[in-house]
Amino acid sequence: MSDPIRHLQSLLPPHNTRHESATAYAPANIALCKYWGKRDSRLKLPVTGSLSVSLGAHGTRMTLRRAEADTLVLNGEAVDPGTATFRRLFAFLDLIRDPAHRLTINSHNTIPIAAGLASSASAFACAVKALEALYGWDLPPQLRSILARLGSGSASRSVFDGFVEWHAGSAPDGMDSFAEPVAPVWPEFRIGILTVSEAPKPVGSTEAMERTVRTAPLYTAWPAQVAHDLPRIRQAVLDRDFETLGQTAEHNALAMHATMIASWPPVIYWLPETTDHLHAVHRLRAEGLPVYATLDAGPNLKLLYTAEAGNDLKAAFPQLIQIEHTPAP
Ligand code: DP6
Repeated sequence: MSDPIRHLQSLLPPHNTRHESATAYAPANIALCKYWGKRDSRLKLPVTGSLSVSLGAHGTRMTLRRAEADTLVLNGEAVDPGTATFRRLFAFLDLIRDPAHRLTINSHNTIPIAAGLASSASAFACAVKALEALYGWDLPPQLRSILARLGSGSASRSVFDGFVEWHAGSAPDGMDSFAEPVAPVWPEFRIGILTVSEAPKPVGSTEAMERTVRTAPLYTAWPAQVAHDLPRIRQAVLDRDFETLGQTAEHNALAMHATMIASWPPVIYWLPETTDHLHAVHRLRAEGLPVYATLDAGPNLKLLYTAEAGNDLKAAFPQLIQIEHTPAP
């Protein structure tokens, strides 16, 4: 097998220099069936498939400009070239851009800061789209998703709006590991963010995932969990069956956290308030309110509900940030 990244690069059109600058946008996404664990860390190939909902107007807007030297401005602030954020983003751009081109990047998060959703998924997906626009390309959507995946696994899903499935694939070169839209936006579907902490997480998701796969005996059960949950969630999205969707998504997220807790050293993202909120969600559900929760690599809860439950949830959680997922104009 030739090097898979070289192969991908050979599929890119010529880097033309017609444009001096270009702007693109990509939404963040929340997984309903989680991606947790890689079978290839360089190519970011997942052990299982996953399914997410994109967050419409909440994501990353990025402008690239041809320049003399690489620079990065994030939410209006210059980022030091020595930082991991800077190095990771430019290492990713190096995979795709003309090696002779230097770029000024102006990146802006359109997610409420308090939502704690600043997301590498939307940033890498947006970087691919912005490079495409800069070079005047129109890449096939699968290739766009594969390229974004090389930045961050979950970025493979952020190149699309609505409900999106990332196929795990089985090819060693990853050419069958890309995301595709499953269904458009579900207008009544809501995502609510309950922020518990905005502090940087103690362990990043890449490291936590790797540690779980390597050390958690429970991880052997994870592929079976996904094999059960993913088709159910996909069908529930297609049927707009909120109960099945919510139940399966919550179970999936909690099973993922169980594998993290069972790793060593343990990865425990939960804080006391995480559990308090989760119990409150369960109490509301017991009282008849259809609301479910999901959690990612951090202590914050994302509530899943439909529009009718909005007022009751606002009353129960005044700090709730409601995220619309209709696509950005
Ligand atoms: C818990 O995509 O951030 O949010 O591929 O290592 O960059 P890397 O990981 P990343 O992991 C996301 C993990 C998750 C679940 C999900 O989004 O599916």
